[in-house]
Amino acid sequence: MKLSTLLPFALAAATSAQTTSSYTDPKSSITFQAFTDPTSGYTFGLALPMTPTTDFIGILVGKGSGWVGASLGGSMVNKLLIAAWPNGNQLVSSFRKATSYANPPEATGAFSMTPIAKGTYINSTHFSYTFLCKACILADGTTFTANATSGVLGWALSTAAPSTKSSHSSALNRHSAQGNFGVQLSAAMSNNYDQWAAMAAAPSPSARAFTA
Ligand SMILES: *[C@@H]1O[C@H](CO)[C@@H](O)[C@H](O)[C@H]1NC(C)=O
Ligand SMILES: *[C@@H]1O[C@H](CO)[C@@H](O)[C@H](O)[C@H]1NC(C)=O
Repeated sequence: MKLSTLLPFALAAATSAQTTSSYTDPKSSITFQAFTDPTSGYTFGLALPMTPTTDFIGILVGKGSGWVGASLGGSMVNKLLIAAWPNGNQLVSSFRKATSYANPPEATGAFSMTPIAKGTYINSTHFSYTFLCKACILADGTTFTANATSGVLGWALSTAAPSTKSSHSSALNRHSAQGNFGVQLSAAMSNNYDQWAAMAAAPSPSARAFTA
């Protein structure tokens, strides 16, 4: 393993007030509050029910063959992280948690991600992973809180693919772009949430790779 793959993951403080805006995925028609990095084509968004508790619908979009990730609580250390990347015609997803600015090992818990097929695809330029995240909003300080009107999340990506991209527990090479952004949680709430969440396939907590 090259040294560069072991260098610390350091989520830089936001240099400007980066925030979310409304984004509707063209295929699933789900509307998210989403942050987009115009340089890389990265997007992370979320949709919430009118009374959020523990679940949300998320979308992670990337370009090319590298990984994209989000921290549900801002800077990466001791926060619940989500990553996804393409592997041929599949997308691989993974929960991570790190105790230092280094490759975050896989995290296990009651949380689960279930893909929403309509919003999970790979086209000639991007990959898009839409998922129902169940038991993902935690009260232990590792994520945003369900009752807040706004939160600070983190984003990160690497233009290089994970070393063992077929494995959901693959080491993640250091991010090549990253930052924090503010998310308007109250604006992410929708009356359509239940209908959107129902598009997720039956939960399969062990499934971490699926045909896009
Ligand atoms: C691929 O999907 C992304 C994300 O939905 C979209 O922005 C882009 O325009 C699509 N590209 C093509 C060539 O359809
Ligand atoms: C919001 O939720 C957090 C975590 O469960 C809790 O500690 C806090 O007291 C709640 N705040 C309000 C205003 O309800």
